[in-house]
Amino acid sequence: MTKLDSIVILTGAGLSAESGLATFRDADGIWAKYDYREVATPEGYARNPGRVHEFYNSRRRDILKATPNAAHMALARLEQQHQGHVLIVTQNIDHLHEAAGSRNLIHMHGELLKAKCSRCGTRCDYREDLSVATACAACGETGGMRPDVVWFGEMPYQMQRIHEALATADLFISIGTSGNVYPAAGFVASAIEAGAHTVELNLEPSEGASHFAEAVNGPATLVVPAFVERLLGTRHTA
Ligand code: APR
Repeated sequence: MTKLDSIVILTGAGLSAESGLATFRDADGIWAKYDYREVATPEGYARNPGRVHEFYNSRRRDILKATPNAAHMALARLEQQHQGHVLIVTQNIDHLHEAAGSRNLIHMHGELLKAKCSRCGTRCDYREDLSVATACAACGETGGMRPDVVWFGEMPYQMQRIHEALATADLFISIGTSGNVYPAAGFVASAIEAGAHTVELNLEPSEGASHFAEAVNGPATLVVPAFVERLLGTRHTA
């Protein structure tokens, strides 16, 4: 493998599946149980904020019980030991990358352990249930607090920084994502344009599998540590 200075890693729900958190499009996934238009759009929130709070309160409780798995830990090890730049761009709204020790991280779809006030725009850490009665600590208003997550139709966070990283990537790795949702599904094309080597690590080939130069299929807790060891040239004894 050629010299790999800059590594950009895109992660999705499949990375947290073995930590017990549901994915979206697997047979028993979240979108098999909920209509995304009701719980993950600004229109759904305007129509029935209580239903949206219920949906995210239940997921927030789940992620507070979850712990990072071997794949999260391997990616943190890569960031610590790689002689170069490692950036994780995650679509996940859980905090498992941080809990594993990753620091150079962008949550492009926001974070469920944060809340945002629609009235004054203040964002804060928030680990409790949210409701329309929750008052904003900054402006004191109620009725405007929402999970700090990016809904369908809203602009993902830090897109400029993500595109700058993709434009100078030597290696782009996509892990645990179905390649269904843009702009994340288009990142592999940007990486290819930058001349990066592209690898998909996924339980099964994703929608965008054919774009990748290399693919390893299997559960993240097996394929990610193995790939990181290959990159670091080490054999990690668990
Ligand atoms: N190991 C590796 N990959 C897995 C595992 C596992 N244990 N389990 C599932 N996968 C794979 C599935 O095969 C699938 O390709 O992870 C992918 C999960 O795809 P989705 O459920 O579509 O999740 P994701 O790609 O993260 O969704 C993207 O869509 O609904 C929006 O905002 C939401 O961020 C989410 C975005």
